[in-house]
Amino acid sequence: MRRSLVAGNWKLNGSLNSISELISGIRERQDQVKNAELAVCPPFIYLSHVQGLLQGSDISLGAQDCSDQESGAYTGEVAAEMIKEFGCTYNIIGHSERRHIYGDSNETVATKFAHVIKNGLIPILCVGETLQDREEGHTEVVIAKQINAVLDLFGVKAFAKAIIAYEPVWAIGTGKTATPEQAQEVHEEIRLIIGAQNKDIAANIRILYGGSMKPENAEHLLAQPDIDGGLIGGAALKAEDFIGIAIAAN
Ligand code: 13P
Repeated sequence: MRRSLVAGNWKLNGSLNSISELISGIRERQDQVKNAELAVCPPFIYLSHVQGLLQGSDISLGAQDCSDQESGAYTGEVAAEMIKEFGCTYNIIGHSERRHIYGDSNETVATKFAHVIKNGLIPILCVGETLQDREEGHTEVVIAKQINAVLDLFGVKAFAKAIIAYEPVWAIGTGKTATPEQAQEVHEEIRLIIGAQNKDIAANIRILYGGSMKPENAEHLLAQPDIDGGLIGGAALKAEDFIGIAIAAN
């Protein structure tokens, strides 16, 4: 049985004050969430602050990326080993904003994935097609390529401790959500790709949906058989909306 995960990707948002308010808002409402696990992924600089604010709660902490290097002369980078020191459980890898704005290739994402696993963190590997990919009928090929970049290098066993997030690029921050049927189709495909190599790992891996998920559309998305939670951007910045989505996972 896969437990739903509702994870907030805060992206480049927040301040010491607003984050304290957000966490206390989430904690106040948390008892309304019956089944889902909650996680928050603040910017690196706030990890320590949020780690403190989460003391005594069962809300997990995650980071939004990591370096593809272990240590050394790489100005501005943050290594997976450092992230682990701040009580993180999860690490988002390959988010489309990293791929499209900062040029993370499938190979870079695979290297980061390896660092995350090596340091005992759980990667949330993001995959997703652009609108053009979808309109040209290339969705499956793009997704398979993104997953195979990791699968071919590290083998299916690396996915025993991983999460995949399907985030159609055209749905991120646009207010356009994939329909539950569109999302389910891709989630099923992702499970088949993993399942072709190992049926148990495929049956157990959590596959999250991300892209303009809100309390109003979460219920139908989360009711799909292969959707095991959400990776939430904008709506994760409001405690009420974030918890509203997690309640929909009940
Ligand atoms: P939005 O929920 O703002 O569309 O962002 C989704 C996302 O990119 C989560 O990683």
